[in-house]
Amino acid sequence: MLILGIETSCDETAAAVLKGGRELLSDIIYSQVAIHRPYGGVVPELASRNHLDKIVPVVEEALNRAGIGFKDLDGLAVTRGPGLVGALLIGLSFAKAVSAACRIPLVGVNHLEGHICSIFLEQDVPFPFLSLTVSGGHTSLYLVREIGSYQLLGQTRDDAAGEAFDKVAKLLQLGYPGGGIIEDLARQGRPSIPFPRAIPSRATLDFSFSGLKTAVVNYVKKFPESGNGSGALPVADIACSFQEAVVDMLIRKVKLARQETNVPRLALSGGVVSNGYLRERFQALAEEEDLELYIPDRRYCTDNAAMIAWLGRHYLERGCRDDLELDALSRWPVGRK
Ligand code: KG4
Ligand code: ZN
Repeated sequence: MLILGIETSCDETAAAVLKGGRELLSDIIYSQVAIHRPYGGVVPELASRNHLDKIVPVVEEALNRAGIGFKDLDGLAVTRGPGLVGALLIGLSFAKAVSAACRIPLVGVNHLEGHICSIFLEQDVPFPFLSLTVSGGHTSLYLVREIGSYQLLGQTRDDAAGEAFDKVAKLLQLGYPGGGIIEDLARQGRPSIPFPRAIPSRATLDFSFSGLKTAVVNYVKKFPESGNGSGALPVADIACSFQEAVVDMLIRKVKLARQETNVPRLALSGGVVSNGYLRERFQALAEEEDLELYIPDRRYCTDNAAMIAWLGRHYLERGCRDDLELDALSRWPVGRK
């Protein structure tokens, strides 16, 4: 089975061709980061316009690298939501046009479910397992009973963890997107600043990152610009201490979820999981807590079309089909039709 996956939910235009279960014949990602960087975040209007420019060349490149044409495809999988509606509509309209013109079965899939299932591109995970998705838009913990059956155990009540990385990087005038920049800087710093590990309450599995962000803001305010270097902001220590606080909060809730559910398996996903410090800390946790840990390769953590193709194949094989009425959804809880 040859499936073309298309992803345009935010600021990556991506297309991938998947053969059978796991063989990726191509996996093309065009990132718009350089376009949004001057604005310090994704500008929805610019994202849509750019997807429109790039969708044809990106899909063409995916097909060329795979050595196939549209007529060879058995199915099309496209991200339907959640995401920026204007951006989603570019991928959806393109996929619907190809589906109608070449008579190829189409299925719209959930971007977050794509992240949860991204681990399956590389390996099997026995059910049930805990899933922690940490991205720019979401920080959520699920109990996955099978593909399609997700129980939301906890989620962020304010900022997503990736959003907190981006906001702190902006505050420190480090650039955009913040995650990778903070990770690099943190290597030169020490975790010497005791930022709070705020949690909504011990009993809930929800997360909260806005208090941490405010603590960083307040800390920075204590350093009026001196110009002579004496009051210089310890940016590397801030980055290191902030990163440690985020990971501590994630780990605390995962430990609680493991105790409450008694499920000894955890799969990580989402852009923030490309963070090396986070990966090391979870590996250490897995050893301490006797937890089977599954972490996708970094290229499958950030947004990509390979995970969309994988999930689309799963649903197409089970007879799921969408027609030309398929619309974009800005919000779409995982597991809901
Ligand atoms: O999953 P993703 O590519 O897009 C969404 O669906 O949101 O995640 C993007 C987020 C951004 O907030 C970015 O700053 C963060 O992932 N990120 C990182 C790292 N690389 C990307 N956060 C921490 N450390 C990183 N190395
Ligand atoms: Zn994503």
